[in-house]
Amino acid sequence: MTRKIAILDTTLRDGEQSPGCSMDTEEKLVIARQLLRLQVDAIEAGFPVSSPGDFESVQRIAELVGDRASVVALTRAVDKDIDSAAAALKGCIRPRIHTGLGVSPSHLRDKLHITPDECVERAVHCVKYARNLCDDVQFYAEDAGRSDYEFLARVVQAVIEAGATVVNIPDTTGYSMPDEFGRRIRFLEEHVDGIDGITLSVHCHNDLGMATALSLAGVANGATQVECTINGLGERAGNTAMEEVVMAIRLHDAELDAFTQVDPREITRASRLVSSITGMNVQANKAIVGANAFAHSSGIHQDGVLKNRETYEIISPETVGAWGSRIILTARSGHAALKSRLDDLGYSFDEGTLDILYQRFLELADRKKEVYDEDLESLVNEAARDVDAIYTLESLQVSCGFPLIPTATLTLRDEAGEPHTVCEVGTGPIDAAYKTVDKIVSIRSDLAGFSVKSVSRGIDALGEVTVRVKGPEGRIFIGRGSDGDIIVSSTKAYLNALNRMISAGRLAAR
Ligand code: KIV
Ligand code: ZN
Repeated sequence: MTRKIAILDTTLRDGEQSPGCSMDTEEKLVIARQLLRLQVDAIEAGFPVSSPGDFESVQRIAELVGDRASVVALTRAVDKDIDSAAAALKGCIRPRIHTGLGVSPSHLRDKLHITPDECVERAVHCVKYARNLCDDVQFYAEDAGRSDYEFLARVVQAVIEAGATVVNIPDTTGYSMPDEFGRRIRFLEEHVDGIDGITLSVHCHNDLGMATALSLAGVANGATQVECTINGLGERAGNTAMEEVVMAIRLHDAELDAFTQVDPREITRASRLVSSITGMNVQANKAIVGANAFAHSSGIHQDGVLKNRETYEIISPETVGAWGSRIILTARSGHAALKSRLDDLGYSFDEGTLDILYQRFLELADRKKEVYDEDLESLVNEAARDVDAIYTLESLQVSCGFPLIPTATLTLRDEAGEPHTVCEVGTGPIDAAYKTVDKIVSIRSDLAGFSVKSVSRGIDALGEVTVRVKGPEGRIFIGRGSDGDIIVSSTKAYLNALNRMISAGRLAAR
């Protein structure tokens, strides 16, 4: 294998564009740490001009990453976007500006209202403008998958001459067939001078369920970078799933003459982390990271696997880190054991935060005999959610049953430390609890989704609740909460969503 395929992860940019998946800076930093453990080559950290939050995330991720990966900031082919990206990347050790525009007939005619000549002119301008501010400039030819071959080659030639170091060929709408997309990449390889001197990237969407196949067709025909997201998160039906493309390249390295530097043992953890932070559950039969990916249920299969796993298993769970917790903490585990396990999981905290986490860990370990890695991750995420919370849950008491009237008494503390206590009845215990929250927080919202899942194994497992709440302008806010009691997790999740809605309102009003 001679060709290194760079992996550009765009979970924090394209992935975040999935409806309801917006993340705050702290959450993005947690994911960025995991991307570093995976050893991706580049992290697309955001679209700085789009909001102050995105700008800050790019800055903070650049600080965190240091020289361990390139940090990529997205822009349109607009000078002020490029200025903003350059400002957000200031001080970054390996900055990359990712700029570009649509190149398909539909984008030129209906979205940009420009002629092909004007498109080439704008492409050249944005690359030159960005090159004045940054040495590493990636150009994207949006909707390349539906563009004319000759015109695409003309644009790619022009941006390479203008100084692009990476050229990204996206199948923005996931329209292409893999063979055809491969031919498109081959055509560029054969018709663009100087293409060997740049990184040729593919960025494929999953609208026909073929994003991974498209990306691999790109690799087979000369692409040297794949853009992807954890769990295939992304616009509409999503993006190429990193876990799929990395494992496919690993299993077919000889025929593709390719390898990546991604550490596959970090894949499962990355998948769980992104699912827990975004609230996007992974379907059980999802390749590589689904709950059933290594489950053999039929008798014939079980018989085969018992004789030799390879009869029905092309990847061992250990290869992708799906072995579950090896070290289990209990109420007898000390401060040092917790710190060491958190270190192993990639978290580092100051002593003050560790003390708080240790207290929470002891409370959890008192209720739950064994604390798994998944529980620790949930505990850390829960603590992170509390840091900037506007309202925090002080206490909740619920009575329900047959023929009782479900009643909740709840106390919330506001950011000034003032307690508020109310009591409400409802159609069920969660409804009653949510009514008490509504009475105190008093913000217009609709519950648009509710799901609960168990964080780890056993009857005493933590229940993690994810809610989707629709705000006044139809914007969706995700809230999460975990606890051994699912009424408490449900209330924490609802409160988390409302806290986010209030924070977003304050940010917009600034
Ligand atoms: O899908 C797409 O074309 C994109 C570009 C902005 C790279 O996400
Ligand atoms: Zn995209």
